[in-house]
Amino acid sequence: MITTDHIKVIAVCGAGTMGAGIAQVAAMSGFRTILFDVQPAILDKARQQIMQQLDTAVAKGKLAAAEKDAVFQRIQFTEDVNSCKADVVIEAIVEKLAVKTALFNQLATINSEETILASNTSSLSVTAIAAATTHPERVAGMHFFNPAPVMKLVEIVSGEQTLPVVAQQLYQLAVRMGKTAVMAKDTPGFIVNRVARHYYLEAMEIAEDGVADYRTIDRLLESAGFRMGPFALMDLIGNDVNLAVTRSLYDAYGGAPRFAPNRLQIEKVEQGQLGKKSGKGFYNYL
Ligand code: NAI
Repeated sequence: MITTDHIKVIAVCGAGTMGAGIAQVAAMSGFRTILFDVQPAILDKARQQIMQQLDTAVAKGKLAAAEKDAVFQRIQFTEDVNSCKADVVIEAIVEKLAVKTALFNQLATINSEETILASNTSSLSVTAIAAATTHPERVAGMHFFNPAPVMKLVEIVSGEQTLPVVAQQLYQLAVRMGKTAVMAKDTPGFIVNRVARHYYLEAMEIAEDGVADYRTIDRLLESAGFRMGPFALMDLIGNDVNLAVTRSLYDAYGGAPRFAPNRLQIEKVEQGQLGKKSGKGFYNYL
């Protein structure tokens, strides 16, 4: 019988699009939560965003007003990596292997041998991330979807050395957070991001071919049943993050043309049009 009763404290590294949402989910699920980022402005933004989201949850009757302050007070915001001592650490920093491995190496030093170190990576090798730590058997992927407080799915990814019990505990933890978890093998893009590459890449090719504009493509696919059209979704994800994921799959699959980054997304990133988070992407948000 797998239990997660010993899990009381969750540290989330990176307070950007995903980290802020994951921290909110953790705190709403009753865990003492530590949210760490190197950028004070991002931490401030995360603080405001979480407060706003909790207010909305109260307004919608999904959270008791009396609970709101308690949830918020469970979250400690910090710029100090040494504060990331927890039973489970969930990393959600930039999608670059070297940056992630450097952080995991630090996290392994700070934490006990019992701590589970999880990565929210969309596309990088969990085995490679784990290799940077002293206990690779306690490292796994825990891949949430955007927006983390809303999206139910979580992919639990076992690296080559991940102990089955570690993956199972993360699976149960996801369930405790109200999520639907699936187990996935450590392969580039796992399940959803591998399939979704084609949703984005083909849509950009359609726009490039002049078949229809972004808005028309989005409207059509939304009316066909997709929750969000590809361009609106790329803007929500962040064009920088989405391009990094595309490049990572492209490299991992030996330059397979089906994963080749598209000129449009490269240009968006070069122009700083990262999507919602920067105020402009395929659409304007200002
Ligand atoms: P983001 O760019 O919004 O936020 C990343 C944050 O990490 C930034 O605030 C940055 O200051 C911080 N950071 C960078 N290096 C750091 C370090 N060494 N220590 C602490 N903080 C550091 O990125 P986003 O979108 O939240 O993505 C984070 C991770 O989650 C990536 O691995 C991405 O692939 C994955 N992911 C992203 C999704 C999305 O829709 N954006 C969905 C699911 C997973």
